[in-house]
Amino acid sequence: MNLPIPAKDRLIFALDIPNREEAEKYVRLLGESVGCFKVGLELFIKEGPDIIKMVKENSSASIFLDLKLHDIPATVSSALISAATHEVKFITIHGSGGKSILQTAAEVKSLGLEVLAVTVLTSVSESELKGLGFKENLSLSQLVLNRASEAEKYGCAGVICSGEEISSIKRVCKPDFKLVVPGIRPLWAEVRKDDQSRTITPKDAILKGADMIVVGRPIRNAKEPDVAARKVVDEIRSALIA
Ligand code: C5P
Repeated sequence: MNLPIPAKDRLIFALDIPNREEAEKYVRLLGESVGCFKVGLELFIKEGPDIIKMVKENSSASIFLDLKLHDIPATVSSALISAATHEVKFITIHGSGGKSILQTAAEVKSLGLEVLAVTVLTSVSESELKGLGFKENLSLSQLVLNRASEAEKYGCAGVICSGEEISSIKRVCKPDFKLVVPGIRPLWAEVRKDDQSRTITPKDAILKGADMIVVGRPIRNAKEPDVAARKVVDEIRSALIA
């Protein structure tokens, strides 16, 4: 049986920061308060795998390499094996590549790497689906659901999904299939108007069944980011016991 995930480990901080120096400041400040640091394309392409070393040297939190891999299966498979050598816990692949790409996730499970699939990018709107070659009557939510089911079937550890999709994915996937939810906006957050449109609070995300939440700006732009991170963890904890 899988043990429940502690509140702190459910908080992933997005290191959406352009350089090592700045990133290190946040890792030192938040290393004790968050369970995981997410390194994305911007920072990884700028600094290379050394950035992973830096996070490990300054914190015991786990690392999520958000590279959204999408290539032929052999290349994705080799990239995942390379990523596993850095001892990161999570990595993303695109969930649109079909069975043979999704199956590469199962190959690295034994190396301790958990592969999360991106179902449909949130930048894709329902009206764009037909232009992308999908059947006219296929809704965005159905496509997300189909891809989450496929990701689970072929060995991914979980998916990235929006707050709106948590309940429906939870209904069709097994309880241990992880739902990782970005677009988090606590009610007390100072970031109000930004590019996230389908937002949810930490509490509601956890109540709906999110396993982990990804938070960037509400913590990064707070006057005291460490206080904000601890507030998010408290909110997660209160939702877990509700
Ligand atoms: O700053 P904010 O809390 O909006 O950070 C969101 C993080 O989650 C960013 O790293 C972004 O790339 C990621 N993300 C997202 N929406 C998705 C997938 C990932 O905002 N659908």
